[in-house]
Amino acid sequence: MLFTPLKIKSVTIKNRIMMSPMCQYSADTDGLANNWHFVHYVTRAIGGVGLIMMEATAVESRGRITDNDLGLWNDEQIEPLKKIVDECKKYGATVGIQLAHAGRKSEVTDETPVAPSAMNWSNEYKLPHELTKDEIKDITIKFKDAAKRAFKAGFDIIEIHAAHGYLIHEFLSPLSNKRNDEYGGSVENRVRILKEVIKSVKEVWPDNKPIFVRVSADDYINGGINIDEIINILSHIKDTGVDIIDVSSGGLLNAKIDLYPGYQVKYSEKIKEELGFKTATVGLITKAEMAEQLLKDERADLIALGRELLRNPYWPLYAAHDLKEDIKWPKQYERGKFRV
Ligand SMILES: Cc1cc2nc3c(=O)[nH]c(=O)nc-3n(C[C@H](O)[C@H](O)[C@H](O)COP(=O)(O)O)c2cc1C
Repeated sequence: MLFTPLKIKSVTIKNRIMMSPMCQYSADTDGLANNWHFVHYVTRAIGGVGLIMMEATAVESRGRITDNDLGLWNDEQIEPLKKIVDECKKYGATVGIQLAHAGRKSEVTDETPVAPSAMNWSNEYKLPHELTKDEIKDITIKFKDAAKRAFKAGFDIIEIHAAHGYLIHEFLSPLSNKRNDEYGGSVENRVRILKEVIKSVKEVWPDNKPIFVRVSADDYINGGINIDEIINILSHIKDTGVDIIDVSSGGLLNAKIDLYPGYQVKYSEKIKEELGFKTATVGLITKAEMAEQLLKDERADLIALGRELLRNPYWPLYAAHDLKEDIKWPKQYERGKFRV
């Protein structure tokens, strides 16, 4: 299963291995991709990753997590990303980009962070400005403009970052959203910004290219999002044309998480079962056999790896060997192919 392709709309991902989005915090303050990003992503494409989901990329400068995040808020930022995408595609990888807004978790110098409500993440974080309705509208347009640029850069998939306590998640969770207008209160209201961002992105993103949404399925705090609540939330975007839910958890507040290999699989499984979404699962998955079993048991459609791919960019080549699959290696490396 791990080495079977996945076709979503017009895009065929050659295997089920996804590189989870991972901020490199390696751009200059201009948000431009550079040699680090080129080497980092192209190496994983050479290593056989089916889908490279590029790191959280800010739709506006105050939406960066740090001064060194990637950005797609201006046209100059397109070209260096395009160079990476073009090169990764030469090795058969599909390349997506995670479009993000850090909300109140932005630590960018000289900018005031924004959020649904004027509550900071912790005392070490700046107090955010509470967004007005017009400002919310502006942000949905920033997502659209960034999506247009992502298309120009050649990306095949957009992932909307609605997890880990960043802006959209801050709207989704009742713990960080205390608004009294149509963006706060009921689930229908809290999910509104996500629906508007999806709609806005779809105005410029071709119908035949996939859209993923990354969510945190659990805030791990009483009164916050739990699996039932996220299912309720996601039921409101069921008919918006989203193709995959990339299921993560945590990040809204500092909470204790019980970590073990595949600790988030149960959420992915339930979202698949209850809503019929295709899903990606992630979290301490490092073994090919485990990845294979999760797919066989239909607990996810894509297996995302984060830190394991930082340690070993050639993980897919080893995984194929472990599973006795004969996959194509880059011709330059063929002499390194396992013989037994
Ligand atoms: C260095 C690093 C940067 C990360 N940056 C992002 C990010 O940009 N967007 C995101 O959604 N998650 C991010 N994450 C979370 C990972 O995508 C992944 O969900 C998490 O590391 C758990 O998977 P793992 O156990 O395979 O590493 C980051 C994780 C790491 C280690």
